[in-house]
Amino acid sequence: MAFPSAPSTLWSVSLLTILFAAAVHSNIFNDDDPLQPMTSDETVSVGGTVILTCRVAESDNSSLQWSNTAQQTLYFGEKRALRDSRIQLHRSTRTELSISIAEVQLSDEGEYTCSIFTMPVRTARATVTVLGVPGKPQISGFENAVPEGGKVTLTCTSTGSKPPAKLHWYRGDQELEGRPDVVDSDPEEPTYNVSSELTLEVSRSDDDALITCAVEHPSLHPGDKRSEQTLRVLYSPNVEILPQSDLPREGEKFYLQCSARGNPEPSSYLWEKKDGELPPLAKVDGAFLRFEMLNKSDNGVYLCQADNGIGNNQGEYTLLVQDPTAMSTSSGVDHAVIGGVVAVIVFIMLCLLIVLGRYLIRHKGTYLTHEAKGSDDAPDADTAIINAEGGHSGAEDKKEYFI
Ligand SMILES: *[C@@H]1O[C@H](CO)[C@@H](O)[C@H](O)[C@H]1NC(C)=O
Ligand SMILES: *[C@@H]1O[C@H](CO)[C@@H](O)[C@H](O)[C@H]1NC(C)=O
Ligand SMILES: *[C@@H]1O[C@H](CO)[C@@H](O)[C@H](O)[C@H]1NC(C)=O
Repeated sequence: MAFPSAPSTLWSVSLLTILFAAAVHSNIFNDDDPLQPMTSDETVSVGGTVILTCRVAESDNSSLQWSNTAQQTLYFGEKRALRDSRIQLHRSTRTELSISIAEVQLSDEGEYTCSIFTMPVRTARATVTVLGVPGKPQISGFENAVPEGGKVTLTCTSTGSKPPAKLHWYRGDQELEGRPDVVDSDPEEPTYNVSSELTLEVSRSDDDALITCAVEHPSLHPGDKRSEQTLRVLYSPNVEILPQSDLPREGEKFYLQCSARGNPEPSSYLWEKKDGELPPLAKVDGAFLRFEMLNKSDNGVYLCQADNGIGNNQGEYTLLVQDPTAMSTSSGVDHAVIGGVVAVIVFIMLCLLIVLGRYLIRHKGTYLTHEAKGSDDAPDADTAIINAEGGHSGAEDKKEYFI
């Protein structure tokens, strides 16, 4: 009573604190309220179906209700309140009310409300996010084959995504760095058009290369939507001369083929022999140089020049005509096998000879006659001795082998 003001101030502060704590506490309690409805946010792609579920832990048999983004009641318990065949009752029990919305449109996005008509009314909100599914990407900017060393700029565009899609470029399996995506938006439309540019300086190895543009978006699986563009590069031919066989033999028929790869295909071939005329029995037949009958006088360096209008290049081949009896070197493997077998046989025979030699030296006294006989007819000596010795010598022989 001595200081009435101070304690009353203290009192009111602590009262506020208690009230505040109680308020916070009751909020927490609200979450544990068994009658509080619970919902979850959902994400769905345009055209898909979404199920909105509202549950209460316990029921006092009060009705549950779902209403849409415009606060229109969709279902009141099992009773349909809005005529929209896309919206159906999914499940209705004392503790749950679930509805489904099919063929979802972008305009279905927003906050839906579940209410339970207790005293007071309890509500929960669920946010439905609708994804705009990007269209198949379109690649533009490539019409005609480009000369080697030239630049190609491709543009990939995908429309109608929400949120904006990401575009990726690939050459085969390898990802390429394009310019950052450009996102077009229109305040009238909820979706975006996305485009990306890729500039390539092409070389001959890019002829026939497959460039892919793929869309990355939460509504898609990787690789779902992609487009491909095959590059065409004009380049002068790569030339190589291929012989009919690796073993041109005198007197045989033979040809050289001028293998030239270019874009376009080479249209003309020019055959020449270095330091001289083409032999009289060699006939030019487009990409082929045909020899009626090879002759050692045909030896020399042959040249083929292929032209495709873009440019020309030359290939070289040194012809070395072999004797008519020459063996093919391609059977070198067989020679090696035969050589190996011969070597093994020779080795085994040498071993036998050494064993035999040791045996004969040990038994020199006893088998002098045999030794003499053996030296006359070496290959049959061991057979002869084995025959002469009979069964009992086996153990002795073995002992000697292991020394
Ligand atoms: C709810 O209704 C069921 C049957 O309809 C009844 O058995 C139950 O006692 C009711 N519960 C409450 C809390 O009124
Ligand atoms: C996206 O592209 C479509 C078709 O080309 C077009 O109709 C639409 O207006 C474009 N939208 C935006 C946001 O630019
Ligand atoms: C190769 O050519 C020479 C001279 O032209 C000729 O004498 C020879 O008989 C020819 N050899 C064969 C195998 O035709």
